[in-house]
Amino acid sequence: MKIVLVAGARPNFMKIAPIIQAIKKYNRQHKNRIRWQLVHTGQHYDYIMSKVFFKDLEIPQPDIYLGVGSGTHSQQTARVMMEFEKVLFREKPNLVMVVGDVNSTLAAALSAAKLNIPIAHIEAGLRSYDRRMPEEINRVVVDVLADYLFTPTIDANENLKKEGIPKEKIFLVGDVMVDTLLKLKTKSQKSKILRKLNLRRGEYALLTLHRPSNVDYEENFLKIISALKEISRRIPIVFPAHPRTRKNMEKFKMGRIKEGGIHLLEPLGYLDFLQLMMNSKFVMTDSGGMQEETTVLNIPCLTLRDTTERPMTITQGTNILVGNDTKKIIKEAEKILNKNRDSDHFSYPALWDGKAAERIVSVIATMK
Ligand code: UD1
Repeated sequence: MKIVLVAGARPNFMKIAPIIQAIKKYNRQHKNRIRWQLVHTGQHYDYIMSKVFFKDLEIPQPDIYLGVGSGTHSQQTARVMMEFEKVLFREKPNLVMVVGDVNSTLAAALSAAKLNIPIAHIEAGLRSYDRRMPEEINRVVVDVLADYLFTPTIDANENLKKEGIPKEKIFLVGDVMVDTLLKLKTKSQKSKILRKLNLRRGEYALLTLHRPSNVDYEENFLKIISALKEISRRIPIVFPAHPRTRKNMEKFKMGRIKEGGIHLLEPLGYLDFLQLMMNSKFVMTDSGGMQEETTVLNIPCLTLRDTTERPMTITQGTNILVGNDTKKIIKEAEKILNKNRDSDHFSYPALWDGKAAERIVSVIATMK
């Protein structure tokens, strides 16, 4: 059996890493039965957006690098398809495995589907029901095309069933991103980032922000910044900023954000970032993955979005949706700052146990 695994953008790397490890483990026990190749599309290409994750997550060098780079959604998707199709013609895999919901995920799945190559989608079934998000379009299309849909939570199974996906194709396996987090939690404690930034446990908030809906529109961005300025009077905010966000800060002349209690940093690698997240008082973010990671770490998370495709982080986790509503962001941050957190009810979804990737590989191994 020959599998091509595809990764392209930052949030893909932590999902692909445990799958590769699980395939290697399977192969040790089954005479290298699964042949596999890793394709990096090059959607993210900076050291800090890509290479550092290969190092931190111990992912082997990609076998094939497509080098597609940035562009509009159509350009980026089309470039991945054109390059990936050549790989498929040449390598003739029995299965293409895609993770998450970025443009590379969509493009690779489309190319495979057109060549009638079976597709496995990891992190299937997540829905925000907001089609203004590019990721939502990617999720819906990839799930329609996929033959094996590996879901992280039971609500994802329900979403897929409502869309008419046959239940034989759906496998509830848990969350591969949690596999990575649990594996690297101890190692991340060795990071020197807290010391380097002169921070102490529980005495800062951590912020990430990069959704187009928040950072591409000056009005929305300013509403969030107003809240941050207010919150930073009470607690320093550490802000590793995504390249998209930085570019827009320059465009909107937001340089003064650096004054006061908001500490603007370059994006960080996985281990440094995990240490920062684990030791923060709370997190503010518009990322998908961090809603899950804070839930597992039992760190309060204010999600700067109106919807989430990960509702179990609210019902069973630490997540609260605050959108870009200045008052709401401040109010919820103050609630966290004013009370000592009650960690008695700590829980997180079933199967977020570090074994999702092994479950995926055991399903794949039964493929004819
Ligand atoms: C992509 C994903 C998003 C994910 C995010 C994490 C899609 C539709 N979106 O968004 O789901 O949460 O990655 O980062 O696939 N850039 C650099 N260096 C890089 C990569 C990008 O400077 O290595 C800049 C470029 O100017 C580029 C911009 O960032 O135009 C946006 O990159 P892109 O891959 O288009 O989307 P992201 O916003 O990163």
